[in-house]
Amino acid sequence: MAGAVPQRKGETYRDNAKKQDVRTANIEAAKAVADAVRSSLGPRGMDKMVCQANGDVIITNDGATILNKMTVTQPAAKMLVELSKSQDVVAGDGTTSVTVICGALLQKCLDLLARGIHPTVVSDAFALAAVKAAEILDAMSTPVDLGDRSSLLKAANTSLSSKVVSQYSSLLSPMAVDCVLKILDPQRPEFLDLRDIKVVTKVGGTVDDSEYIDGMVFDHKPSKTAGGPTKVENAKIALIQFCISPPKTDLENNVIINDYAQMDRILKEERNYILQMVKKVRASGCNVLLIQKSILRDAVTDLSLHYLAKAKILVVRDVERDDIEFISKTLNCLPIAHVDHMTPDKLGHADLVAEAQVGSSKVVKVTGIKDKGRTTTVLLRGSNKLVLEEADRSLHDALCVVRCLVHRRALIPGGAAPEVEVGLQLARWAKHLQGMESVCVRAYGEALEVVPYTLAENAGLQAIAIVTELRNRHAQGEASMGINVRRGTVSDMQAEGVLQPLLVTQSAINLATECVRMILKIDDIVPTR
Ligand SMILES: Nc1ncnc2c1ncn2[C@@H]1O[C@H](COP(=O)(O)OP(=O)(O)O)[C@@H](O)[C@H]1O
Ligand SMILES: [Mg+2]
Repeated sequence: MAGAVPQRKGETYRDNAKKQDVRTANIEAAKAVADAVRSSLGPRGMDKMVCQANGDVIITNDGATILNKMTVTQPAAKMLVELSKSQDVVAGDGTTSVTVICGALLQKCLDLLARGIHPTVVSDAFALAAVKAAEILDAMSTPVDLGDRSSLLKAANTSLSSKVVSQYSSLLSPMAVDCVLKILDPQRPEFLDLRDIKVVTKVGGTVDDSEYIDGMVFDHKPSKTAGGPTKVENAKIALIQFCISPPKTDLENNVIINDYAQMDRILKEERNYILQMVKKVRASGCNVLLIQKSILRDAVTDLSLHYLAKAKILVVRDVERDDIEFISKTLNCLPIAHVDHMTPDKLGHADLVAEAQVGSSKVVKVTGIKDKGRTTTVLLRGSNKLVLEEADRSLHDALCVVRCLVHRRALIPGGAAPEVEVGLQLARWAKHLQGMESVCVRAYGEALEVVPYTLAENAGLQAIAIVTELRNRHAQGEASMGINVRRGTVSDMQAEGVLQPLLVTQSAINLATECVRMILKIDDIVPTR
């Protein structure tokens, strides 16, 4: 940049220029970030290959993932990264759209500022326009009932259609819909928590081999070094958080042994100690033991595994702390923190706990769980790590879309129909406004046209021609017209079944506006030490 500016001699320092410069620099930087993800919007959008410092590679189409991995240092550009993160939290989908819309609004800001309009005026007008946009979107939405499976499927399909794994959407969308409906408590739908859906990923096979499991899966094989069982019928499952291993001395203490007799005594004591514990475990009736990973000392030793194997107890070790809540909810058992608290009422019951082969590795499957909690497990497969990770992210997006519909039961057509409609109606509304406000609101509406342009461009269509036609159709009152990227024409998105949750688009427009307003109001960067 600096090289391009001719170095004029005797250029004077202008005091008031600085604030304008900081704002422009911020806007330019944020716009650059938005431009980076623009090409991945829509079903025909490109994917990105993210190369991480440690040599890992990610292939993704998800805006939030791309931005999250991007090394961004400019503070205003970082705001865009945060913007797509917040969209990910609120809606889970539309993370590319929100960034692209924000970029377009920022471009309009530059134009408006260049015309001498004060940033505060622009900011206030944009806030007004966002409120109006939300109203327009509300008006064009159609309510959806959670029993209407086909509508839910359409929304999940739309979300998956832009992903790398879109060819598997016929498998993944029903999976997403079923999983959410399974964990949904009809009495308290607002407490829907996607953490109750556990996705276990296993390399091998293709995404087609993914399955929905009515039960639970542990990602590793049972511990059978000492010849313990690998299959238990009529299982009584205990989830323990204590270690079955000899206690350690305190950090600064030593036990000094100087003859074999003492050594023997210690070993005998250790055997006794473990044996007592295993007996107590056994006495509770437990025959499957899930042991939480321990960082203080080994959760199990060879000796304790040996005794547990003798007692015919199937052992799954290294259960992550984070999984405890999910497990206890699923199996309807209580985590046990001390061996003295092992009582039969804390155990979970299942018909079968058995080792199973998945691809080249083994897992432990629990099926026929009695009084199973509202949780589900999905075993996701993929031929390699790249596909598998992207399938996981895509499934997450689809789950979020269904969750959006639970929170806000309304759908709107996709394919840029909402953006064009909002643009059009804002332009009409602007005619009734006065002065600067009118100019800013019109600019806001025009900025939203970035979505149809980008969808068309990414699909290799004649963007100007198709967006003009789209605008005309909307002007004639056909509000659900959108870009049919597969056939390269303008068609009715409602009829095509391209539907998306109202919440996704609404929050994208709201969050983008909020971010733009924040960037506009910044007139200086103050570094601190
Ligand atoms: N089959 C389709 N035809 C036309 N537009 C579609 C289709 N599926 C999705 N879209 C549009 O693609 C955009 C979403 O693209 P996507 O790459 O998923 O980005 P985001 O991360 O924002 O969800 C939305 O505007 C949506 O309406
Ligand atoms: Mg999407």
